[in-house]
Amino acid sequence: MRILVIGSGGREHALVWKLSQSPAVEKVYGAPGNPGIAQCGECIPTGDGTPKELLAAAESINADLTVVGPEAPLVAGIVDTFRAAGRAIVGPTAENARLEGSKIFAKDFFRRHKIPTAEFVLTDNRDAARNALARFRFPVVIKADGLAAGKGVVVAGDRAEAERAVEALGERLVIEEFLEGEEVSFIVLCDGRDIVPFAATQDHKRVNDDDTGPNTGGMGAYCDSRILSEKQTELILDTVIRPTVEATGFSGFLYAGLIMTAAGPKVLEFNVRLGDPEAQPLMFRLNTDLAPVLMSAAQRELGRHTFSWRRGTSVCVVLASAGYPGSYSTGAPIQGIDAAEAAGATVFHAGTRKGASGLETAGGRVLGVTAAADDLPSAIEHVYQATRHVHFEGLHYRTDIGRKGLRGYNVGVAP
Ligand code: AMP
Ligand code: GLY
Repeated sequence: MRILVIGSGGREHALVWKLSQSPAVEKVYGAPGNPGIAQCGECIPTGDGTPKELLAAAESINADLTVVGPEAPLVAGIVDTFRAAGRAIVGPTAENARLEGSKIFAKDFFRRHKIPTAEFVLTDNRDAARNALARFRFPVVIKADGLAAGKGVVVAGDRAEAERAVEALGERLVIEEFLEGEEVSFIVLCDGRDIVPFAATQDHKRVNDDDTGPNTGGMGAYCDSRILSEKQTELILDTVIRPTVEATGFSGFLYAGLIMTAAGPKVLEFNVRLGDPEAQPLMFRLNTDLAPVLMSAAQRELGRHTFSWRRGTSVCVVLASAGYPGSYSTGAPIQGIDAAEAAGATVFHAGTRKGASGLETAGGRVLGVTAAADDLPSAIEHVYQATRHVHFEGLHYRTDIGRKGLRGYNVGVAP
């Protein structure tokens, strides 16, 4: 099987890394890929990244299967384009990608299908937004409509902060109740009908330790089968995932960002793709050969596939450029990846490039150092030991990835 993975981040490196280990796979390609992907596959340069161009890339290598990493090509209709041309692809149609592409569409969907979510008001002008604030207690959450790489969300502690957020985030807003509880990323693979759940992961969205500072795309994640009990998993499948797949015929990766509240799981958002960094600890812990499962998903034959997991816990720590999630500079030389890998980690590339004098930074999130062990405390120790070997100017990372899980593996409130 020849597989094309669309995208260039840590999620895509983890996918290519995993798929390249499959006996069913002849070769994996990344479009456009990155220097990490180039080590376990072949990179195909791309231009504007339109569905048409990516179809041409898949045709040029005669890909048997294409897997899409980021949301933008999905929202732009890549799955529709590939299907019309008869090429196998894993992902949702443009219509279903609106579950991520528009927060307003998603909230309306939750309401129509009685999917548990935070109480909310949708507004389309600033006056309505300011008036709506009166209906909520603080903190209140204010979200911009549209794709914002996890950065269009403000948790406002008081009225003044909320008004500033309304000014900053534009006209079309979701204003919603702040939910108390642990956050869980619950991701499943669907084929339009059948559903195969991944193990639960927990992301760390804020830039600094103890969940402080602005939101980011995610600063690290861990994966452990004890994040959710079987009962909690069933409840999420019953109240969130199955109603969605039944209503939409969803295919591809469906990612529910949940808060496990005292009143049960509630959806913060849907993403229509694998999470990043979540994909890194997920691919690291996944035992099952992913390639045949993905092919079955594209062919609507997911049936009774299941995923099995390595014992224990995997943890991924994201190393970011100075300034991220705000503006940052690039081009800093990167050292120490070999030493981190010699210490037992796998280092996934997110924002790197080959410069004149070797590997250098090329993005906000630069690397994802990922390691596993038999239990969460050992996995945390292991991953941070490896992380300390990596250097580039301005590097910063959270030092508490997975720490919340130490309070007790079962993070949610059992129903
Ligand atoms: P979103 O892009 O909707 O996932 O929001 C980004 C992050 O903001 C989430 O991952 C949460 O950490 C936080 N967040 C968003 N909405 C809420 C909410 N209603 N209650 C508590 N935290 C929230
Ligand atoms: N890590 C959060 C996301 O992928 O949206």
